[in-house]
Amino acid sequence: MIPMVDLQRQYKTLKAEIDAAIQNVLDSAQFILGPNVSALEKEIAAYHGIPYAVGVASGTDALLLALRACGIREGDEVITSPFTFIATADVIALLHATPVFVDIEPETFNMDPGKIEEKITAHTKAIIPVHLFGHPADMNPIVDLARRYNLKIVEDCAQAFGATYHGKKVGTMGDFGCFSFFPSKNLAGYGDGGMIVTKHSEMAERIKLLRNHGSAVKYHHTILGYNSRLDEIQAAVIRTKMQHIDIFNRKRRENADLYRRHIERDDINLPVEKAGCMHVYHQFTIRSKKRDGIMAALTKNDISSAIYYPVPLHRQEVFSHRNIDEDNLKISEMCAGEVLSLPMFPELESEEIRFISDVLNNAH
Ligand SMILES: Cc1ncc(COP(=O)(O)O)c(C=O)c1O
Repeated sequence: MIPMVDLQRQYKTLKAEIDAAIQNVLDSAQFILGPNVSALEKEIAAYHGIPYAVGVASGTDALLLALRACGIREGDEVITSPFTFIATADVIALLHATPVFVDIEPETFNMDPGKIEEKITAHTKAIIPVHLFGHPADMNPIVDLARRYNLKIVEDCAQAFGATYHGKKVGTMGDFGCFSFFPSKNLAGYGDGGMIVTKHSEMAERIKLLRNHGSAVKYHHTILGYNSRLDEIQAAVIRTKMQHIDIFNRKRRENADLYRRHIERDDINLPVEKAGCMHVYHQFTIRSKKRDGIMAALTKNDISSAIYYPVPLHRQEVFSHRNIDEDNLKISEMCAGEVLSLPMFPELESEEIRFISDVLNNAH
């Protein structure tokens, strides 16, 4: 069986380092917002060349707290992609604001910047570009629009730790970069976790309040906040893996090159890497009208594959009561019917990629 991601292989190679890091936390008996969280925040800020990083409980909370810090509330509109994980848009609706969906580019699966301006209204307050599957969204035109219309940008970097756009790391081009450390992500813990990076000092302070019940001084609460703290065991695990992140991402890129070399079908669209972008292949996602036959052949040969995402967000029941411009979201719908993600992780073997590609080349 070849899985989509094999976390045991990575654990085996890092076992000594990770076990020692966890043991240190157990010995310190400091479990929430301790020295590992502070150190991880500094390390992630330094990695991004940005002054502030704040650890939170998940990638979803990173988005939610960033929107709260922007002051998003009822009546506001936030523009985002309909082709993403639900978290990107449900945080908007949880704040009683309206998600406004803009269609995607079929090559990168990211929001098409040429279609954003027509969706901006007097109520628009922010844009959430998603760097889906590890490929950076086309940020220059998005930053330009945000400047012109005075909008905040919250980058959803959950799938793209380490990816770059014209030399800039994702998460550093908007007002906030939001990361997830869910166990299968490129940089991950062994549980839930998240991080917000920002260049705004007052926003970083606000997020620190928001993550801890609106409190800077114990039992004194200045704003309504959450329990959204990162724990020490997760931070210790993530710090250990952080030392290897560039190698992990490089191996993902090498695996993507191998897939590209071995897959030989002109009825399959392979992932692209646009000029100036560095893709970190959280997923290796192909597109084909013969998707269902290909998936069946892979399953028959004990190879996992997955459809990310089968239902675009504007078709989700949770948003069905909203007045959504479905006619202009056709590329997302086409992609939902054609995409297939193949096994992708740094430790995937070249013989496995050759075998998966052979099955794929011969599928009907
Ligand atoms: C694009 C995207 N946004 C947000 C999230 C939410 O992250 P988390 O699961 O850590 O809450 C995820 C991942 O799960 C994601 O893939």
